[in-house]
Amino acid sequence: MGKNSGIRYDWTNLRAEVVGSGQGLTPADLLDHREAARDAVENFGARITSGEIGFPNLPFNPKPVGQIESFARKVRGRYRSILLLGIGGSALGPFALDAAVNGPRPFRRKKVPAELWVLDNVDPLILGRALEQLDARQTLALVITKSGSTAETMAQFLIVYDWLRRKLGTKKAARQVAAVTDPAKGDLLDIARREGFELFFVPPNIGGRFSVLSPVGLLAAALVGVNIKKLLAGAGSLAAACRKPELSANPALQSALHQYLLDTRYGKNIQVIYCYSNALYPLAFWYKQLWAESLGKQFDRAKREVFCGQTPVEALGVTDQHSQSQLYMEGPRNKVVTFWEVAQDAYQMRIPKLFPKHSSTDYLGGHTLNELFHAEKFATELALTEAGRPNCSFIFPRADEHTIGQYMMLLMFQTAYAGELYNVNAFDQPGVELGKQLTYALLGRKGFDAERKRIAAYRKQKAALAG
Ligand code: PA5
Repeated sequence: MGKNSGIRYDWTNLRAEVVGSGQGLTPADLLDHREAARDAVENFGARITSGEIGFPNLPFNPKPVGQIESFARKVRGRYRSILLLGIGGSALGPFALDAAVNGPRPFRRKKVPAELWVLDNVDPLILGRALEQLDARQTLALVITKSGSTAETMAQFLIVYDWLRRKLGTKKAARQVAAVTDPAKGDLLDIARREGFELFFVPPNIGGRFSVLSPVGLLAAALVGVNIKKLLAGAGSLAAACRKPELSANPALQSALHQYLLDTRYGKNIQVIYCYSNALYPLAFWYKQLWAESLGKQFDRAKREVFCGQTPVEALGVTDQHSQSQLYMEGPRNKVVTFWEVAQDAYQMRIPKLFPKHSSTDYLGGHTLNELFHAEKFATELALTEAGRPNCSFIFPRADEHTIGQYMMLLMFQTAYAGELYNVNAFDQPGVELGKQLTYALLGRKGFDAERKRIAAYRKQKAALAG
């Protein structure tokens, strides 16, 4: 991997010579696709240069950072809780950043300026519980929606804003809401302007799941104490490497090509993210959306039906060794495992030498918990390799703002390059539209009569079949 990247990509165990013929990549596979990889860089590069795709340039735009940092300074100490109203690309990134830097709940850093509550759903249980437990006077609501109209986010917002108004009065409530949305369109923009909310913008050329380095991720992160300058510096430090045409110098391109080939040539249509870090685990959920929504497509760009995409699945090391590993070792040969590992742990923990007469405790005493943790990752990797299961590792020197920024940039480029290789539009999500329209129809939104008719017909047919 590139010199300026702290993260190492080890793909030795993706090679056929290691995991067996028909299970891994051959030199010919890579040679055959050298040109396709170069084209991917060139074509995607042109989309960046033309301004169509904006995420690679986010680390180099200081304007939103100034606005966010000054807002975060202004409100520091005033709020105990940040209640994030949003879903998908407007929620998973901030959630991942908070956990990676502050630690997953309830295992938090001692000094977090405010706690982040991320809804990412409309299950009444979680919003009900949140409003039961939060103190309105000490809660800042952050409503984030690029489109400014997503049903789930707007419903969360209506309930929370009403709650704030009832608890604090209209004027105060409006001061306790900040909104992140498109600068030119959408209902939230309109509402935020009318109500006088603090407003932050997502540039128009930044799509939801590629927006974590815009105010979508940065605002919440800054409010909970993440150093967003370091995060962006990390992301920026990898952007140039991610645009290089040579495979060996470009980890995003190289890993995209590996996954693409393993899927299309060797039937590895499931990528297991085996994350050996509780702090980075929420990042796997962010990545799952990025990979799944970007690449799971019915049609390619030539409008041919392709039904492509590799299914991302998350697993937590070592926890899932006692849950999923059996399947990965002996189940269908349709998976490639990508380990995420952090070399330098935040804590060193010695295991005391107690109960020497018992063999199950004797050998552990004197080692560290760190040794056990890393040995288990190594053992899982070796076991999979011996079973002919392709696997690779991304190894972080440590998990901090700089490396998280680097990795997020790498994964966004990786996804974009995979889109080029599959020849699909990685930046749209037409498949989720139908579900949305049917929901609108069910809730009586105007203009969805045709969908209402389809729902009635479906219900009739189902009732008849249920007999
Ligand atoms: O990646 C995407 O574009 C989507 O998954 C969105 O993030 C998600 O639907 C939320 O959209 P919005 O931010 O417009 O509310």
